[in-house]
Amino acid sequence: MIQLSARTGAMHKIGFTMLAPLLLALWLPLSIAADSNADVDRILALEADVDYGEYLAGDCQTCHQAVATGGAVPVIAGQEASYLIKALLSFKSGERENQVMQSVTQGLGDEEIAALALYLSNL
Ligand code: HEC
Repeated sequence: MIQLSARTGAMHKIGFTMLAPLLLALWLPLSIAADSNADVDRILALEADVDYGEYLAGDCQTCHQAVATGGAVPVIAGQEASYLIKALLSFKSGERENQVMQSVTQGLGDEEIAALALYLSNL
C-alpha cells in the first residue's frame, strides 16, 4: 500500500513536469488567437466607408468571383465581416500563408480592411 502511494506520488510529479511545456504550448497559440480577436473587434468597431470598400474591392474581383468556380480562389462576397477581417489580418501577419494574399494585404491598413469587410459582407 505504502509503496503504491509512493509510486503514484512520483508519477504525479513526472506528470506535471511533462505537462508544463504542453500547457505552455497550448497557452501561447491561445493568447495569440485572443490578440487577433481583439484586432478583429477593433476593426469591426471602426466607422467603415462602404464606397471606399467597393473601390478597393475592384482589385479583388479579378481573382475572387461572386460564385465558386471550383478553383483555388474562395468566394469572399457575402461572407461575414468578422470572418473576412480575420482572414485578411492573418494573411497580413503571415500567420496564414499564401503568397498572393500576403502581398495583397501588405497594402491594407485597418481602414481599408474595415471598408472591404463592410462592402463584401453586404454583397
Ligand atoms: C491574384 C489573385 C487574388 C487577388 C487579386 C486577391 N485574392 Fe484573395 N485570395 C486569393 C487566393 C488564391 C486565396 C486562397 C488562399 C488560401 O486559401 O490560402 C485567397 C483568399 C482570400 C481570403 C480568404 C477566404 C477564405 O474563405 O478563406 C480573403 C478574405 C481574401 N482572399 C480577400 C481578398 C481581398 C479583400 C482582395 C482584394 C483587396 C483579394 N483577396 C485579392 C487570390 C487573390
